[in-house]
Amino acid sequence: MGLGYAVRSRLGKYEPAVSEAYRARFIDLADLATTVATLAPNASRIAEIGCGDGSMAMAMLAKMPRVTYTGIDLAPTPGRLFEGDRSRVQFHCQPSADLVATDAGQFDVVLVVDVVHHVADDQRVALLADAAALVRPGGLLAFKDWEMGRGLAHLLAYGSDRYISGDTTVRFMPYDELRSLAAQAAPDFELVVECRVPPRRNNVLLALRKPA
Ligand SMILES: C[S@@+](CC[C@H](N)C(=O)[O-])C[C@H]1O[C@@H](n2cnc3c(N)ncnc32)[C@H](O)[C@@H]1O
Repeated sequence: MGLGYAVRSRLGKYEPAVSEAYRARFIDLADLATTVATLAPNASRIAEIGCGDGSMAMAMLAKMPRVTYTGIDLAPTPGRLFEGDRSRVQFHCQPSADLVATDAGQFDVVLVVDVVHHVADDQRVALLADAAALVRPGGLLAFKDWEMGRGLAHLLAYGSDRYISGDTTVRFMPYDELRSLAAQAAPDFELVVECRVPPRRNNVLLALRKPA
């Protein structure tokens, strides 16, 4: 979930703080970064597909002081709100297939966080398969998405993505579909962790390891 362009453009210099506070109502990115860092303590290269404004980049770099990070997104100006050591990050506006063409098997960790519910149904497996292709042997694919639910938090998440972000393709998936998607995209990977990320049960993390 993110703030839409119309809302963001009215916030001016307050945008980073408001954006962070708003997102924190839905997910604790620092907690997610801690889990990923624990699963890949020796990682040196991280990639993120659908990096958005750079929030996960900041969370990962804070937990892993030695890593370098590459973030890609289809939207313009990826990493726009990133604050930190720019020498350790690269942000590119490009499709995942382009990164696979140049960097397949090069990353210790590949992140896909709250992206797949924005992708058209018939392209979801392909996007996650690209993520899997970027992982080096023995490396980790961290797929986090928002599980479809019935509670107020889910209604707010849906409303935010659909009406504030203005994304008409958004479709959240039930838990079994998230599992099935990961299995189709990365059939040879081992599911090493499945857990919920605070503060909402809807945040499902599937961490999958590529055979060494
Ligand atoms: C809710 S934001 C999440 C950003 C970031 N992963 C985070 O957790 O802070 C979803 C992002 O996915 C991007 N996105 C959607 N479809 C994509 C695709 N096919 N390839 C790359 N990025 C995509 C959007 O442009 C948006 O920036």
